[in-house]
Amino acid sequence: MNMNVNISSKEFALMQRYIEEECGISIGNDKAYLIESRLSSMLGEFNCSSYEELYHLIYTKKDRRVSERVIDAITTNETLWFRDKTPWIILEKVLLPQYIKDLESGKRDRIRIWSAGCSTGQEPYSTAMVIHNFLDIRGLKEKFLPKFEIVATDISSTVLEVAKKGRYDSISIMRGMPASYRDKYFKREGRVWILDDEIRNMVDFRQFNLQNSFVLLGKFHIIFCRYVMIYFSSDLKDELVSKFSMALKDSGILFIGSSEMLSVYREYFDMEQYEGGVYYRKKGEVL
Ligand SMILES: C[S@@+](CC[C@H](N)C(=O)[O-])C[C@H]1O[C@@H](n2cnc3c(N)ncnc32)[C@H](O)[C@@H]1O
Repeated sequence: MNMNVNISSKEFALMQRYIEEECGISIGNDKAYLIESRLSSMLGEFNCSSYEELYHLIYTKKDRRVSERVIDAITTNETLWFRDKTPWIILEKVLLPQYIKDLESGKRDRIRIWSAGCSTGQEPYSTAMVIHNFLDIRGLKEKFLPKFEIVATDISSTVLEVAKKGRYDSISIMRGMPASYRDKYFKREGRVWILDDEIRNMVDFRQFNLQNSFVLLGKFHIIFCRYVMIYFSSDLKDELVSKFSMALKDSGILFIGSSEMLSVYREYFDMEQYEGGVYYRKKGEVL
């Protein structure tokens, strides 16, 4: 089948609306080429002679196999270990010392962390390694490791499957990973680097669309939502900031990407800085 099918403006509008409704990603009116470049191979794969037929499969026939492939093709899953570095410095130097004090005094009984839009696992596993290492070198691991819960979610089941395996090739392992963490927490089998089970078991991966209600996820002390909202409309971004604040405990922390900006946050968060990194602390009782 000829894959050089052009997308008509009607088909583009249908796809654009579907993608925004389904995953919140807002595609500008001048980006028809983006849909063509990312979805054209699917026309052949699913025997469609036009984008309208593809749309019909996902929208009218509700074929999950096709819609998952569309979501995978449209979402950007780019990620790396310890991306931007500062969130993990803040975790290690500011947040963990306080949480351990609170766990010791009984002020808190566990610490819950959410990596929202976790892609192939680098973000939640970086978090898990920092927590594990922090406790390990202080002889606190046995006592406090079980008190930490990391939930990691993504809309794409494909990236979650990769994440759950905890196996990375030599190229992805190099991206951002300090040698000390790599040597402590991975073993190498040929070209594959296998993450230690103790770290893998610290993270609970779940499929979750950020457009859904957060209520069933419970409350968190820290939320990472980094390089996810950049693809969303400003209305959805604003709505998410309010939903994140509701999903955080008082004085809970929100991390976003270092090149991202939040337009409305002052109602819910105070912006704080540490060693060049920015984070948002939910208004409320200060620890
Ligand atoms: C660019 S990656 C960022 C990964 C990681 N947070 C980081 O900073 O390295 C964005 C991730 O957000 C996910 N995503 C996009 N829209 C989503 C939605 N509506 N709900 C949940 N996850 C979504 C994508 O599947 C992708 O894995």
